[in-house]
Amino acid sequence: MKPVHRKPCVIANWKMHGSRQMLEIWLKQYVSGLPEENPVEVVLCPPAVYLSEARLYLNQLAKKGRIQLGAQNSYAEMTGAFTGEISPSMIREMGCHYVLAGHSERRQIFSEDDTLIARKVWAAYHADLTPIICVGETTEERNQGKTLEVICRQLAAVLPEEQLRLDPRVMVAYEPVWAIGTGLTATPLQAEEVHVAIREWLAARNRKVANEARLLYGGSVKPGNVKALLMQPNIDGVLVGSASLNAQEFLSICMACRQ
Ligand code: PGA
Repeated sequence: MKPVHRKPCVIANWKMHGSRQMLEIWLKQYVSGLPEENPVEVVLCPPAVYLSEARLYLNQLAKKGRIQLGAQNSYAEMTGAFTGEISPSMIREMGCHYVLAGHSERRQIFSEDDTLIARKVWAAYHADLTPIICVGETTEERNQGKTLEVICRQLAAVLPEEQLRLDPRVMVAYEPVWAIGTGLTATPLQAEEVHVAIREWLAARNRKVANEARLLYGGSVKPGNVKALLMQPNIDGVLVGSASLNAQEFLSICMACRQ
């Protein structure tokens, strides 16, 4: 049995997909399909340009408490001459409570390193956002038996002990790089092994934080595999990419996460 304070969380990461029309249709379909009682926290992370429109729609739909907004990225500073970047305080002002940090696409395609990710995480906390810290190993690293070592190194680089003392809002997403967008999913046991290691890593630094932190799994999550993942004692939710683009499919994932 999982502690009740770790409310299951499902995150929709649209990546660079969608349009204004899709946003409107998706939100209507999603909200109308929800039951009255929804014991799952749901966070929509559309491209940043759609965040304020999403906020307006959610207000109109008058069920705004049922879905939170998050951003896919934010910069490491609050303001300044950083052409093209968006600050965490701006994201917060749009009504977001979450922001992704360290996603493997940011690491690999945009060359974000641990130093930059650590600064982004710090700035996000400072702006009253909860960063969803993404960690994960490549196929090569897994084959070399280095999975847990890589995960712990990534955590240590972006979540220094000092920060763990100061800010207890910790959310980590384990996203094996080989499972993202590939159709390959970690087995529930493979994912649980890593989640246990993450919780132990946190517990060695702050037991209370470790107990309260929600640890999510991401990588080709679908309606058909989510239940078995969520049955694992240390998997508290999922981060969903491609399956979140279809409102009905995403709704089925959310329903499967109800305890
Ligand atoms: P996927 O993406 O569900 O399409 O594999 C997950 C993610 O990148 O967060």
